[in-house]
Amino acid sequence: MENEFLWLKNDLDFVLDRIRKNIPVFYNKVPGAASHHLIYEATPNNYWTSSFWIGMLFLAKEITQTNEFDEVISVQMKSFQERLENKVELETHDIGFLYSLSAVADYKVNGTKTSRDLIVQAADCLMVRFNEKAGIIQAWGNLDDLNENGRMIIDGLMNLPLLYKASELTGNDVYKKAAIRHAKQTQKYIIRENNTTYHTYFFDRRTGEGVEGSTAQGYSDDSCWARGQAWGIYGFTLSYLHSGDYTFLESAQGLADYYISRLPVDNVAYWDLIFQEGSQQERDSSAAAISICGLLELAKQLPLSNSNRNRYEEAAIKISKSLSELYTTKGISEANGLLKHGVYDKNSNKGVDESVIWGDYYYLESLVRLSRSWNMYW
Ligand code: GLY
Repeated sequence: MENEFLWLKNDLDFVLDRIRKNIPVFYNKVPGAASHHLIYEATPNNYWTSSFWIGMLFLAKEITQTNEFDEVISVQMKSFQERLENKVELETHDIGFLYSLSAVADYKVNGTKTSRDLIVQAADCLMVRFNEKAGIIQAWGNLDDLNENGRMIIDGLMNLPLLYKASELTGNDVYKKAAIRHAKQTQKYIIRENNTTYHTYFFDRRTGEGVEGSTAQGYSDDSCWARGQAWGIYGFTLSYLHSGDYTFLESAQGLADYYISRLPVDNVAYWDLIFQEGSQQERDSSAAAISICGLLELAKQLPLSNSNRNRYEEAAIKISKSLSELYTTKGISEANGLLKHGVYDKNSNKGVDESVIWGDYYYLESLVRLSRSWNMYW
């Protein structure tokens, strides 16, 4: 690693050290979604965020090229098998996050045959949420919940790689077709003309017509929630990668351009992009970490002749350096997370200015992406 990138090596060492220290605490549990005073509690595997810990363990295994994480990975994998068998809190589109970072990662890193089956079973479970009429995967709640039936959210793009993978493994394109329809509906309804995004969009579940956009975690219905925009940059890029539909890459660029245009001086966006330099509102370091991964993948997917490649890569490196210098918990001995200044849900005062576990995962993924070539889990 060249001198210019010494910070990367230091950060990887810091992260590996934290992960090693965390193993006894989260051996057969997982860190909660958000820390409390920068400390995650050990919680059961029953939430949408439960896979980010095992995702970090797989990355640690890949970085170190050792077997030192195998035992805890196998305990965690068992828990994901049981969760699917017993359908524990799986009334959510986040089955994609949960089983990409467990089953898909295990299949890619270890080639485990049972994880191949788990991928397909998890994808089947996610497919139940696909509303054929509206062409969307219902985000939250059970299918009888009239307040949620017909609602999709921008985050859902990150759950589609599980479906693309299931089609690749089985040769059955039903999963991929659903994923592409969902991504197309996201593109049509969630992206506004100025390349900002709604957080959520409702469809009439009987006619399939789009009804209206609104927010849950953003500042207002017509503002642009920073993490949603970051999910969109990464998610549309992934749908391009798995479908070959170039319009998804164009959408990802539009979202990336808007996101970059709203960055304050230290390059880490406020929790909603309506806020700009000088605002007293909190930053969301997790949106920053997701955006780095999205921008790096976007740059990689663009044709060599496209001048945006360098621009996106440079933006990703600037955001990374800022996280490394100003937003990690390095030197805070009581903290057990990686990034500080994340925001889970400002509107309900949940995890505000704390570590959030997906922020930690994507921060590590971004370090891995910047330091080596990597066969991603998405
Ligand atoms: N996917 C949920 C969130 O970003 O808070």
